[in-house]
Amino acid sequence: MSRKSILAVLFAGIASLFVAAGLNAGLEGCPDVITMKHEEAFEQHRMGIVDFTHTKHVVEYGYSCGACHHDASGTPTDDITCEDDIKHCIDCHSKPGQPRVDRSLPEEERLKLEREYFLGAIHQNCMDCHKDYNQETGTNAAPVACTQCHPRP
Ligand code: HEC
Ligand code: HEC
Ligand code: HEC
Ligand code: HEC
Repeated sequence: MSRKSILAVLFAGIASLFVAAGLNAGLEGCPDVITMKHEEAFEQHRMGIVDFTHTKHVVEYGYSCGACHHDASGTPTDDITCEDDIKHCIDCHSKPGQPRVDRSLPEEERLKLEREYFLGAIHQNCMDCHKDYNQETGTNAAPVACTQCHPRP
């Protein structure tokens, strides 16, 4: 390797450290892992409790805040910080329990009604991205099977 290319590699390494530090700084004050146990929505959890890797989804998988967070009109919010007093999913997708929706409705309409429920909104958010990702990468790296997210109790 020439001296020039060694320098280039060194520089790229240092630059990527700064990028990683910047992303981490964006998450300072946010919980690293979020224990998904919303008692407001479920009197009792029938499934194992999901530990959602918040930091990992941003830093390792490279998603911006707006991949999951949005405002009251559903527009993605990329510019939030952990210091912001953000609204929680359940503040807007507030119906508790299992979605009760007429299965015979057209799909788009059914999905929209389902996500009035907290469970519908959360499962759609996680699953839609995971399914797309697996399809795009031709892998099954992102979990879509129940027990990959809900550990067996
Ligand atoms: C990508 C991860 C993921 C996958 C895969 C997944 N879930 Fe969930 N599920 C969640 C999260 C997160 C919650 C929200 C729990 C909370 O915040 O209280 C949840 C909540 C639930 C609840 C309501 C709470 C409870 O424990 O009773 C049920 C029922 C449920 N999931 C069933 C399923 C079933 C059945 C499957 C497979 C068809 C499945 N889930 C697949 C992430 C997942
Ligand atoms: C892959 C999805 C996803 C991404 C990307 C994401 N978040 Fe979150 N975030 C969540 C979920 C799910 C919760 C739990 C929400 C709830 O309990 O209602 C949450 C919770 C939060 C909370 C509340 C924490 C608490 O203690 O109640 C803050 C603040 C937050 N996120 C900020 C951010 C910021 C800032 C970014 C970008 C740097 C970001 N999030 C990226 C999904 C995500
Ligand atoms: C301030 C209110 C509000 C909060 C907080 C909120 N949503 Fe939404 N959400 C909406 C509105 C409004 C829409 C657009 C109407 C629709 O399509 O249902 C929407 C749309 C969605 C959609 C369908 C469109 C899309 O982006 O895929 C999903 C899935 C969803 N929300 C999940 C979540 C999750 C998960 C959280 C928490 C991390 C959350 N929402 C927080 C109001 C909110
Ligand atoms: C915008 C895309 C996106 C969203 C939204 C998303 N994920 Fe993921 N998730 C991924 C990708 C990509 C991977 C990892 C694939 C890999 O390992 O290469 C992943 C991996 C995971 C894993 C396995 C590894 C780990 O980090 O624990 C779990 C569990 C998981 N996600 C849970 C969730 C839950 C629960 C939600 C909803 C609250 C969610 N994800 C929302 C993209 C997403």
